[in-house]
Amino acid sequence: MSYRVAIVGATGLVGRAMLDILAERQFPIAELALYASARSAGTTVQWQGAALRVQELSPAAPSGHYDLALFSAGAAISRTWAPIFAQQGTTVIDNSSAWRLMPDVPLVVPEVNAHRALEHRGIIANPNCSTIQLAVALKPIVVLYGIESVVVATYQSVSGAGQRGLEQLAAELDGNEPTVRISHHPLAHNAVFHPLGPDGWSEEERKVMTELQWILELPSLAVVATCVRLPFFRSHAEAVWVECTRPVDIEQIATTLAASPGIQLLTDDYPTPRSASGSDSVWVGRLRRDPNNDRALALWIVADNIRKGAATNAIQIAELLAAQGILRNSSSTVPVTVQ
Ligand SMILES: NC(=O)c1ccc[n+]([C@@H]2O[C@H](COP(=O)([O-])OP(=O)(O)OC[C@H]3O[C@@H](n4cnc5c(N)ncnc54)[C@H](OP(=O)(O)O)[C@@H]3O)[C@@H](O)[C@H]2O)c1
Repeated sequence: MSYRVAIVGATGLVGRAMLDILAERQFPIAELALYASARSAGTTVQWQGAALRVQELSPAAPSGHYDLALFSAGAAISRTWAPIFAQQGTTVIDNSSAWRLMPDVPLVVPEVNAHRALEHRGIIANPNCSTIQLAVALKPIVVLYGIESVVVATYQSVSGAGQRGLEQLAAELDGNEPTVRISHHPLAHNAVFHPLGPDGWSEEERKVMTELQWILELPSLAVVATCVRLPFFRSHAEAVWVECTRPVDIEQIATTLAASPGIQLLTDDYPTPRSASGSDSVWVGRLRRDPNNDRALALWIVADNIRKGAATNAIQIAELLAAQGILRNSSSTVPVTVQ
């Protein structure tokens, strides 16, 4: 069986990665439609030897025609358009924050909670990129020992903010005044935070803390995140401290992580944003027991934010629905809650 697929946000960093990954994984496609803003309408994208024309997302789009729509055009677009596609029968997998943490919308990382995808009612949310890699690496430790607390500091690349992040850093490194900005501070030779709210937390930090509890299905898990943007272009790293419910055996954790789906454990070296870029794995290294707490450990987690943190995760969800024969959204008469 092959599917009619639409990509909304097809010209962005995540959308373009989706095109690559659909081809690499030989996702069975009968028809592929590309949507973006009026700015890119009429441009063409080469895919599998064909020139595909980018269309403006507009009410003229045949939103119920597709089996699957992969959304990566920001939360405002998803809030408006994902329910329109879903209510007409197209299954939507959304990369934005619009539908995460909504009661009717599964928040899915296939290695962690694939079962939730099967409960979808038209829209499935892809978690935040920093949360995905954290959840993949922590799930085997949850199963082994149970966990009570997580403290994470992220080291995130500028591509996490999309094309504009790349442009601001590239301009600064070339000595030019950026024409677009993701931070009022310079990015080059610097460490900056995502925009901070009046309570002192950034939205990114809140997403990591809440989404991790949801995905691991541990609502009372204590999570503290400090999210930092650094001047490199691709992949996110995380320094993580985890407290378990009983004393940990690091060798047992290493053996388990090494055998877990989606994880590559490095023991003779450590992963870096450069070494993880272009990969679909979550890379783990620097596994250490806390010398002052026999229930706690520290680890370093790195993954490609555009691939496993967004596009690959979304396509893995589509693959698991297709394998169950439920990719087409048959529940089109049961709309998700519209915000
Ligand atoms: N970057 C990451 O690491 C990452 C990770 C996880 C999730 N995400 C999420 O994925 C989404 C896209 O991120 P990105 O990094 O790919 O951003 P990006 O590079 O800035 O791309 C944004 C895409 O959205 C399209 N778009 C903007 N306004 C639109 C409109 N009015 N109608 C239709 N399309 C419109 C753009 O089309 P034009 O080219 O025509 O402007 C472009 O294709 C965001 O919601 C982001 O939060 C990103």
